Amino acid sequence: MRRPLIIANWKLHKGLEETKAYADRLKGALTDEPEYPNVDLAICPPFPLIHPLSEMLRESPVAVGAQNVSIRVEGAFTGEVGINQLKDTGAQIVILGHSERRNVFNETDDLIAEKLALVLTETNLTPVLCVGESLQVREKGEQAAFTTRQLESALHNVSDELAGRIVIAYEPIWAIGTGVNATPGDAQAMCKAIRQVFAARFGENAGSELRILYGGSIKPANWRDIFAGEDVDGGLVGGASLDATDFFALYQIALGS
Ligand code: PGA
Repeated sequence: MRRPLIIANWKLHKGLEETKAYADRLKGALTDEPEYPNVDLAICPPFPLIHPLSEMLRESPVAVGAQNVSIRVEGAFTGEVGINQLKDTGAQIVILGHSERRNVFNETDDLIAEKLALVLTETNLTPVLCVGESLQVREKGEQAAFTTRQLESALHNVSDELAGRIVIAYEPIWAIGTGVNATPGDAQAMCKAIRQVFAARFGENAGSELRILYGGSIKPANWRDIFAGEDVDGGLVGGASLDATDFFALYQIALGS
């Protein structure tokens, strides 16, 4: 059985005070929940908030993670944050290859493959690898071919032993921050295609254990139907995760399904 996972991606939002208010609210909401819930929750705030947030959530089941990490480990690389700093912050997961990293900051498939290998070999962090097509690709009907190619490229350097630590997020670019989510059928079809590629590469067991998240304009109102997809194991949530009440509502929907 795959444990569902819901990750808040705060992107470049929130300061320390807002983070504290959010953590208090979420912890308050979680007090009535079972001690060992069947759904994993994580929050990825901007780098400077990772450590304070992980302290605030220390007694809760919510994990904290990063939205990115540098390929550089140490040295004269002004402005970078590396794996050693992340280990010290309390981060447990790291998002890699988000489309905003690819498109706004020009991260290439090769760079993302290198980062994935670095995180797997040099840390205990859970990498959440993002893949997904643009509107142009979708309009040509090439979403499955494009996304699986992106996936194969990222997995290029991954050994069978380490593959089991990976989480994949299918995030169609046209659905991110637009209010237009993929239909439940489309999300399911793409998550299934991703699972097949992973199974072909690492074996049937690895494929059936892989956790695949959908991301792109998830809201409490559309989440139940998307999450019902057999191959959809959770969500990577931007906008709706900024409100602790909405994020908690997504969690409760996943618990109830
Ligand atoms: P969104 O963002 O939920 O605001 O569409 C998702 C993401 O970028 O991870």
